[in-house]
Amino acid sequence: MYQALYRKWRPQSFDDVIGQKHITETLKNQVRTGRLSHAYLFIGTRGTGKTTCARILARAVNCEHPVDGNPCGECAACRGIADGSILDVVELDAASNNGVDNVRALREEAVFSPAAVKKRVYIIDEVHMLSPSAFNALLKIIEEPPEHLIFILATTELQKVPATILSRCQRHSFRRIETKELADYVEHIAAEEHFDIVRRPS
Ligand SMILES: Nc1ncnc2c1ncn2[C@@H]1O[C@H](COP(=O)(O)OP(=O)(O)OP(=O)(O)O)[C@@H](O)[C@H]1O
Ligand SMILES: [Mg+2]
Ligand SMILES: [Zn+2]
Repeated sequence: MYQALYRKWRPQSFDDVIGQKHITETLKNQVRTGRLSHAYLFIGTRGTGKTTCARILARAVNCEHPVDGNPCGECAACRGIADGSILDVVELDAASNNGVDNVRALREEAVFSPAAVKKRVYIIDEVHMLSPSAFNALLKIIEEPPEHLIFILATTELQKVPATILSRCQRHSFRRIETKELADYVEHIAAEEHFDIVRRPS
């Protein structure tokens, strides 16, 4: 079956992520030492790796045998999270679930211990889209999270996230990938895919 390139090449481990070493090394270190935060905030422009890293982190914290802080990709936890059969890792798009009811429902579910893995992880994309009352509901649980709970919030618009939320999150800023890094990466993928491309001298 044909798989779109962006899906096929979405990095599966921290070491495959390009241009964000300042973040991936920190996160790997936290996984290695078990010193995890209950709430992360990933900030950065579109397509810099926020969702990608959130998914990798969700697997790494639950992996049965992480490899130097990376998810192994082979254990039941890694595979179950990747194929969506493990429901303890939840991805939520705040752009379409931005009401207080959505967050209240999440809160009711979040207090329960995870069923299949160690940590219940909520990845909330476009978190700046939450309504003020939804942010308040989220704040309540981020203030006193149960041990098994991790939030990974992602946003392109830091200035729209309330200070009360910011102060409780560990922040990571994703940088723009430089043209040369991108060109090298495209060249690498093209070679693997047996595409002929020509690089013009810049
Ligand atoms: N740093 C990176 N290294 C390698 N591939 C990347 C990186 N960032 C993005 N990609 C590629 O681009 C695609 C989109 O990345 P991702 O969804 O992680 O971006 P995002 O920061 O969440 O963007 P958005 O703000 O639009 O949600 C991924 O499938 C991945 O293949
Ligand atoms: Mg994203
Ligand atoms: Zn694993």
